[in-house]
Amino acid sequence: MTQEKYVLVVRNLKKTYGNGVQALKDVSFNVKKGEFIAVLGSSGSGKSTLIRTINQLIPVTSGQIFVAGNEIQTLKGRDLRRARRRIGMIFQHYNLVDRLSVMQNVLHGTLGGMSTLYSVLGRYPEERKQAVLELLDDFSLRDYAYKRAGELSGGQKQRVGIARALMQNPEILLCDEPISSLDPITAGAIMDLLSVMAYKNDIACIVNLHQVNFARQYASRIIGIAHGEVVYDGPAGTIGHRDLERIYGKQIPLAGNMLYSTGEAI
Ligand SMILES: Nc1ncnc2c1ncn2[C@@H]1O[C@H](COP(=O)(O)OP(=O)(O)O)[C@@H](O)[C@H]1O
Ligand SMILES: [Mg+2]
Repeated sequence: MTQEKYVLVVRNLKKTYGNGVQALKDVSFNVKKGEFIAVLGSSGSGKSTLIRTINQLIPVTSGQIFVAGNEIQTLKGRDLRRARRRIGMIFQHYNLVDRLSVMQNVLHGTLGGMSTLYSVLGRYPEERKQAVLELLDDFSLRDYAYKRAGELSGGQKQRVGIARALMQNPEILLCDEPISSLDPITAGAIMDLLSVMAYKNDIACIVNLHQVNFARQYASRIIGIAHGEVVYDGPAGTIGHRDLERIYGKQIPLAGNMLYSTGEAI
């Protein structure tokens, strides 16, 4: 099967919402193990819908999604849970439980692999906690392990979000605008962390971004979406003015200045 060399295959994906909006028209692409892909597109182009359909947070209208060779829509019960565990999620607003400690938030990432009894009792085996502490150490967050997540800065919260996703040992990380709420310096630090962790663990990353400069700096490949259609799928290094114009529907300066950002407005 050709699918097997890819960790993710998206084929003829269409999503029409109940209100009639065609958010994805006919999207197809394949993702190799460990690939780092930035998804670019104006607001409303369908980036979040793409991520949510891949993770089955919302049902597709038609098309197929294969995760590690398994068509995810046909899976049920334990097989579906197993397939979902291969996919980690990172969100713009972190989706942490603010009143719980950093440790508890990250331990939640291991839930998929744990009996529900542990989660109900809120007790986890010592070796899990040890593994979390080691990960937090790598993320310069060890001193925050028993602080409430709500007390952390945005950059720290996103590091916790990444740690939580990694605890689930994913093969794919789906990141929906992971740096849109952060200042440019913190955003760069988060992209550094994400790309290093993905590389070290051979995780394929699909990252929705608003910043062309970050996409070119960190991704090896860019998928550009306009009005629910893929209008660019190619190397990040050689994306040109015309490609960006097709993606954004207007001229975007292809900056030598690495701090250039398309901003929230488009
Ligand atoms: N739950 C929803 N119900 C109806 N329409 C939606 C819903 N979510 C998104 N849309 C519409 O689908 C299109 C794509 O949205 P989205 O995937 O959020 O784009 P992006 O993440 O690129 O900003 C937009 O026109 C948006 O208004
Ligand atoms: Mg979005």
